[in-house]
Amino acid sequence: MSEAVWNKLKDLEKPSLAQLFAADPDRLDTYATAFELGDEENSCAIRFDWSKTHLDAAHVAAFEELAAAMDFTGRRAALFAGDIVNPTEGRAAEHTAQRGVGKEESVALAHENHHRMAAIVEAIHRGAMGDVKHLIHVGIGGSALGPALAIDALAREGAMVDVHVVSNIDGCALEQAFAACDPATTMLAVASKTFTTIETMTNAESVIGWLRENEVDDPFGRVVALTASPEKAMEWGVDETRILPFSESVGGRYSLWSSIGFPVAMALGWPDFAEFLAGAAAMDEHFRDTDGMANLPLRAAFADQYYTRLRGCQTRAVFAYDERLAMLPDYLQQLEMESNGKRVKVDGSPVDGPTAPITWGGVGTDAQHAVFQLLHQGTNLVPVDFIASIAQGHDLDPVHHRILLSNCFAQGAALMAGKDSDDPARAYPGDRPSATILLDEVSPATFGALIAFHEHRTFANAVLMGINPFDQFGVELGKEIARQIEKGGTQFDPSTEALLQLAGIA
Ligand code: F6P
Repeated sequence: MSEAVWNKLKDLEKPSLAQLFAADPDRLDTYATAFELGDEENSCAIRFDWSKTHLDAAHVAAFEELAAAMDFTGRRAALFAGDIVNPTEGRAAEHTAQRGVGKEESVALAHENHHRMAAIVEAIHRGAMGDVKHLIHVGIGGSALGPALAIDALAREGAMVDVHVVSNIDGCALEQAFAACDPATTMLAVASKTFTTIETMTNAESVIGWLRENEVDDPFGRVVALTASPEKAMEWGVDETRILPFSESVGGRYSLWSSIGFPVAMALGWPDFAEFLAGAAAMDEHFRDTDGMANLPLRAAFADQYYTRLRGCQTRAVFAYDERLAMLPDYLQQLEMESNGKRVKVDGSPVDGPTAPITWGGVGTDAQHAVFQLLHQGTNLVPVDFIASIAQGHDLDPVHHRILLSNCFAQGAALMAGKDSDDPARAYPGDRPSATILLDEVSPATFGALIAFHEHRTFANAVLMGINPFDQFGVELGKEIARQIEKGGTQFDPSTEALLQLAGIA
């Protein structure tokens, strides 16, 4: 069934962007949609403009057929119902329940966990753990990227606590945090869903050692554990009263909304963290309740599938024209590539086309002066997302923001329009796609909705491709070999053996 739809999609005419705009005077109204957040008194919008992509009525109709063939409605209902949507691990994927949208029992449990987390955050702010000025948060992957991004995006105007997110096992990372923190006023958050990840546990031990060396009497008294494995946290030495649990059914790269968001709440205060959850919940409801092309994450997934499967694009780029969102491409890399970088379908059979493209990107305008040459004139077609905010995030002369936004919009216009020239080196082919996400402002609510949009877009892509976005077995083999190396006694290939000898590890 889906094969027939793909064949139909492949046969459809592919008009250029210029032709699409010329043929349809309402194109902008159809493909650019404002998503409203908040209430009448305090409203805020995010505009999702997909008009500069090659979607047209014929493609959208066929993609809607594909969604029906892949049982998009059924798989979406299963996601929100808390059913087992991750069959290889026998788990549900209940990140939306953390935002209050999902199975009743799971929402109630998330609410209870948040209630406790809020109480602990507020107690620490009031001085229950003594004078806490610094927080070292150790975690990696989904236990670090989200908190680091959210704090960078939302806490620039002054965090309630100075947070250092440390992920890398390379001691240089932790050393930098030590240099910036006073041990007498530093607490430690150990963030790990499994509480077994070697980088996190090694870094956590080293923070404890550092506190001890600096004469902190009871270093474990300064620790909060954020985990789905509370018993392991207790074994490691964390007091039960300072363990903030979350459910096993919340995936690592979807866990920012759970207690993994503790450092965000510490930096922003609980009311802002609650706003962040509410922004995501608004996007959840939109995704759950809207059908067809009007569903913003699904519309984006239609365009994503168009480019990877019909136009052979192997990468997609994300450029945040906002310094506060500079870490967004890193975050989206894990979300999209760890979720959809797969080669088998949900039933274990091989996929019949490419899956996730490589997500990459950077921050504008810096990236313009580094990588945009390839986007405009290179031989790869790269669909680009631009993300920007109408309100500026600083107190400097608005000229900064005007130039920033002018550049952002100019890039999308230039990619689409191109430019003829008698000199081939100076000609731009044009007809290159981009989408623009324009936030009224970067606030906890818009930021929450933005991240939830990308989670649902990733899920929608997975459904259209027939894959499971919630497991990540591809990361295991490398970890296993690293463990064998640590243990010793295994013979590897000649190249690896030589490298181990050179580094004095063998
Ligand atoms: O190795 C990949 C991974 O399992 C990610 O999916 C996860 O976000 C990260 O490691 C950290 O895992 P944990 O939170 O269990 O330490």
